[in-house]
Amino acid sequence: MNKVALVTGGTGGIGQATAHCFLNQGISVVILDIDEEKGKAACEELSGSGGDVTFVRCDVSNEEEVKNACQKAAETYGQIDILVNNAGIGNNETTLTEMSLFEWQKVIDVNLTGVFLGMKHSIPFMRKNGGAIVNVSSLLGFKGKKFVAPYNASKAGVITLTKNAALEYGRDRIRVNAVAPGVIDTSIVDGWRTHEEKWKIISTANALKRVGEAQEVAHAIEFLASDKASYITGTTLMVDGGGLTY
Ligand SMILES: NC(=O)c1ccc[n+]([C@@H]2O[C@H](COP(=O)([O-])OP(=O)(O)OC[C@H]3O[C@@H](n4cnc5c(N)ncnc54)[C@H](O)[C@@H]3O)[C@@H](O)[C@H]2O)c1
Repeated sequence: MNKVALVTGGTGGIGQATAHCFLNQGISVVILDIDEEKGKAACEELSGSGGDVTFVRCDVSNEEEVKNACQKAAETYGQIDILVNNAGIGNNETTLTEMSLFEWQKVIDVNLTGVFLGMKHSIPFMRKNGGAIVNVSSLLGFKGKKFVAPYNASKAGVITLTKNAALEYGRDRIRVNAVAPGVIDTSIVDGWRTHEEKWKIISTANALKRVGEAQEVAHAIEFLASDKASYITGTTLMVDGGGLTY
């Protein structure tokens, strides 16, 4: 029986690269994202690469939308085997005291609550056959960086939430892991890229002296979601070119 994977934020960057990896293995993919236009384009681009790909418009911070999307996927395919909680946003950079509650809440809602909601509403469909969840944290879940407090806090939260879910659902043969990417060449870092000097420093602050590609993170996600990682749960895999070591 072919597996079915939900990938949030799958219309570009790391999410789309992950969807591509799954499809190549014949895994059917349901992309959950807020961007309808990019969703259609991603499906067109990805179709023909193996499994079946569909798009469901879903804001991961909205419980009703996440619940409906999981139900729709389970009804369509009869099962959910893999969940990749990848959707995420950065914050407008400023100090803690200048940070508005709105800005704080927006980032926590998408990056942390979104991961909670994804697990809450897909785990019930995984409990019969087991499953694998991969949450996308960040190097910035481990390391502090000035002016990105909500992003830092949300990604650190994802690391602990991952352990929590691993402990609660291990008996159901549901493995829950995270990846922590360093600086990866996707649209989320466009803001940094425009500052030439800053970008030079940020993009080489790792052992490999380069930014990572979305596909390099996707490969780690693919591994953690696969049976090859059958005794791995509750962990966070750095995919940062040695950024944490630096
Ligand atoms: N690129 C990096 O350097 C880097 C580093 C560490 C972690 N990450 C994390 O990787 C993940 C993927 O980001 P990316 O780099 O591919 O950037 P990206 O901007 O290409 O992808 C983010 C995706 O999330 C979607 N999204 C945003 N808000 C959403 C919401 N409320 N509901 C559903 N979808 C939503 C966007 O439409 C987009 O498709 C994010 O969680 C990000 O924090 C990225």
